[in-house]
Amino acid sequence: MKSNIALVSALASLTNAFPGNLPQLEARYDPTASLKKRVVFDAAAQYVDTTGTHAFVAPGATDQRGPCPGLNAMANHGYLPHNGIATIDDLVTQVPKVFGMGADLAGILAVYGAVLDGDLTSYSIGGPDSRVGLSLLGLNLLSQPTGLTGSHNNYEGDASAVRGDLYQYGNNYLSQVSQFQALYDLGKSQDSYDVPLVTKFRSSRLKQSVANNPYYVHGPFAGVVAQGAAYAFIHRLMGNKSETYPEGRTNGEILKTFYAMSGDSGSFSYTPGHERLPDNWYKCNALDQYTTAAAVADIAYMQTQDLNFASLGGNMGTTNSFVGLDPANLTGGVYNAGMLAQGNNAVCFAIQLTIQALPGTLAGLFSDITAALSKVAGVLGTASSSLGCPQITNVDKKQLEQFPGYSKSYDGYHGLV
Ligand code: HEM
Ligand SMILES: *[C@@H]1O[C@H](CO)[C@@H](O)[C@H](O)[C@H]1NC(C)=O
Ligand SMILES: *[C@@H]1O[C@H](CO)[C@@H](O)[C@H](O)[C@H]1NC(C)=O
Repeated sequence: MKSNIALVSALASLTNAFPGNLPQLEARYDPTASLKKRVVFDAAAQYVDTTGTHAFVAPGATDQRGPCPGLNAMANHGYLPHNGIATIDDLVTQVPKVFGMGADLAGILAVYGAVLDGDLTSYSIGGPDSRVGLSLLGLNLLSQPTGLTGSHNNYEGDASAVRGDLYQYGNNYLSQVSQFQALYDLGKSQDSYDVPLVTKFRSSRLKQSVANNPYYVHGPFAGVVAQGAAYAFIHRLMGNKSETYPEGRTNGEILKTFYAMSGDSGSFSYTPGHERLPDNWYKCNALDQYTTAAAVADIAYMQTQDLNFASLGGNMGTTNSFVGLDPANLTGGVYNAGMLAQGNNAVCFAIQLTIQALPGTLAGLFSDITAALSKVAGVLGTASSSLGCPQITNVDKKQLEQFPGYSKSYDGYHGLV
């Protein structure tokens, strides 16, 4: 492995651009915002085609589908390659086109996957696949990239909304009908799955994982950033935008479509990999894309509702044995527990820890980590810098490794059936 001290210190000076400036931005989230028209609804521009070349085609035996319902649906509708192997470019172009996600956020999500779960350029949205990384295997890649499904604790994490926990169910990419039913029931009376509602569901899912998964882990990227964003996506991205609800509304039927559930409540039936875009469905307006700043605001709002969302730690090999790490201890005092519910601090804390852990994580994937580190530290560093994140300079990664679920090897990929 090459030394990356220069790169890391370049990154440090980047994030140092806001010395001592502890962000105290108020969460932008306003629970009544869904009633306000922030932007004009433009049906023609926001309509998402699900006909012709974009009609649903079920995945075949060699097509990859994984933990992300949004990406699975895009591949099923020909907005991503149907085989489920996508490049950074595919994602950065198509995710904004289909969902109205900001290119900035799509860029972070896409690059993180390509580096941690792929060959720096492309990756499988499902399990490991020999079509990814062939030319780099043995040269720079130390092993077959994991795909999103195999990225447990790096990208994919425990306590997801509808996908089950790896060490509770033996896989981490299939929906659990019981979890879907619980989410469906929670929003049934209002028939709307908005951010306050998915936040409540996230709280209950965390408790459920601690109580049922002996190897539960809540880590910085998978647990704080990806998990927080994914819960928010249920409203922000899945929601159907309209004149009446320009910010979008996800009702029970839309939820079922995106999560490949059919049948009636009480006897839902799940078809793995058959996630769909609803017909006659409208994405975010281009003037109101779901950007990194918007996702950070949602995660910050969630944090004000439940401090556990940024409480890193895990179970110790038995259920209900959660040990939380002290943020001050983890970050040499730069962050402390009291700060994490304020402004962007929870996201900052998670991103900073992720950046610090990158050299170690990447050393397990690449013989020379230089390109990988610069790519992923670049997008995370830019986000951290624009949020004005208090910066940490070293982290004791052993603290996360003490959790048995963190270092267990992954054996959870068994195909779609
Ligand atoms: C580049 C783009 C994207 C990448 C790389 C990505 C990746 C992922 C990953 C790795 C997970 C698993 C996280 C976990 O274990 O909690 C996930 C979950 C999820 N993603 Fe995506 N995603 C992307 C875009 C989208 C889009 C456009 C949507 C739109 C609806 C979406 C909706 C979700 C939801 C709702 C979950 C949670 C699934 C559950 O209920 O368990 N994602 N995504
Ligand atoms: C989205 O909203 C429009 C306008 O209300 C409606 O015509 C359409 O059926 C809705 N789409 C879905 C999938 O609910
Ligand atoms: C964290 O706590 C452990 C055990 O109390 C201690 O050994 C270690 O030095 C602390 N680390 C930091 C960064 O404060």
